[in-house]
Amino acid sequence: MEERAVLVTGSCGFIGSHFVRHLLRERPWRVVSLDKLTYAGDLARLSDVSQDPRHRFVQGDVGDPELVGELLRAEGPWAIVNFAAESHVDRSILDPAPFLQTNIQGAYTLLEAARRHGVERFLQVSTDEVYGDVEGLPPRGENDPLRPSSPYAASKASADLLCIAYWRTYRLPVLIARSSNNYGPYQHPEKLIPLAIRNLLRGDSVPVYGDGRQVRDWLFVEDNCRALLEILERGQAGGIYNVATGVRTANFELLRRICEILAEELRSDLESYLSRIELVADRPGHDREYAVSIDRITEELGWKPLVDLQEGLRRTVRWFLENRGWLERAADSAYHAYYEAVYARRWGMSWPA
Ligand code: NAD
Ligand code: TYD
Repeated sequence: MEERAVLVTGSCGFIGSHFVRHLLRERPWRVVSLDKLTYAGDLARLSDVSQDPRHRFVQGDVGDPELVGELLRAEGPWAIVNFAAESHVDRSILDPAPFLQTNIQGAYTLLEAARRHGVERFLQVSTDEVYGDVEGLPPRGENDPLRPSSPYAASKASADLLCIAYWRTYRLPVLIARSSNNYGPYQHPEKLIPLAIRNLLRGDSVPVYGDGRQVRDWLFVEDNCRALLEILERGQAGGIYNVATGVRTANFELLRRICEILAEELRSDLESYLSRIELVADRPGHDREYAVSIDRITEELGWKPLVDLQEGLRRTVRWFLENRGWLERAADSAYHAYYEAVYARRWGMSWPA
């Protein structure tokens, strides 16, 4: 009998592509992947599974009800995992419109189609950013209030609320995973870690917003993918699960470690890397700290992270050193225009002007 299918949206993005690979490796299911291929989507991330007969790629928009309805009719997936999103806070500050469109309207389109087609599980991939700035507060639990700061975080919180409404109202078996900052191979160079690695390799400065003391909980992408599969299969319908490591690191400390690893890997001068870390104007509305409790996922599902920050960073740095071609292709002319828009004014000035 043909194996059942899972629909994975945003499958050509950073985390989605790791998750597709994880699914094909760990389960016998078919994977239908749907991605619009925006600036952030890249089929090359899935090149190693492109010949797998259990994988089918469809280019399209999660906000297109005809396309989504037709896919559900044709493939009859038992589950949907929704990664599709505009995902970068700085871009959401420049222009919130596509964030509202994809992250809210897109989630709604998928939820509605899932309801009509009797999908058994709907996993919404959310973020710890929905809790907002946690500085001075204990780590957030899943029932704590949503206080998003950026248009990105507000759009993700909106999608979470829609998911909860679909569970409460229609009993659609939704699950919500609120993951902390992911990092690893294939991350787009708009995000801090690959941006820092690329700039250091090119001899450029690394821009650090504000005072560099903002704190994040860095989660290796493969640990996140393991968590997501656990939640998809064994999470309680209607349940929300935080996913993080519990270890929090200030941006300065993170960048210092990247410099150290690069200096070791390339046998080059640590001081010259460190001297290129430069303070620039802060991100408007910048959250000082994210911190979530992972009691629920560890106690209910037995998940815990396996890759600590030092090992994860080393694997990440090595991957980028071996895949500089991919990194430079991701930093195309559109990236340069974006970089100019966000950073040109930042050095020594307030932003946006
Ligand atoms: P990403 O930007 O790398 O990838 C997003 C993917 O979605 C891209 O392939 C893009 O082409 C696709 N996409 C965008 N709009 C679409 C649309 N309308 N229809 C179909 N596809 C569309 O993002 P990522 O870092 O892989 O994040 C994936 C998900 O995880 C997002 O929902 C994000 O909010 C969430 N998340 C990310 C992090 C993180 O640290 N990166 C942390 C927590 C949660
Ligand atoms: P980012 O990777 O954009 O993730 P998020 O904002 O979703 O947490 O940024 C991680 C942290 O690094 C965040 O505190 C903002 C900061 N940052 C910089 O200091 N400089 C940069 O150039 C970027 C992109 C981020």
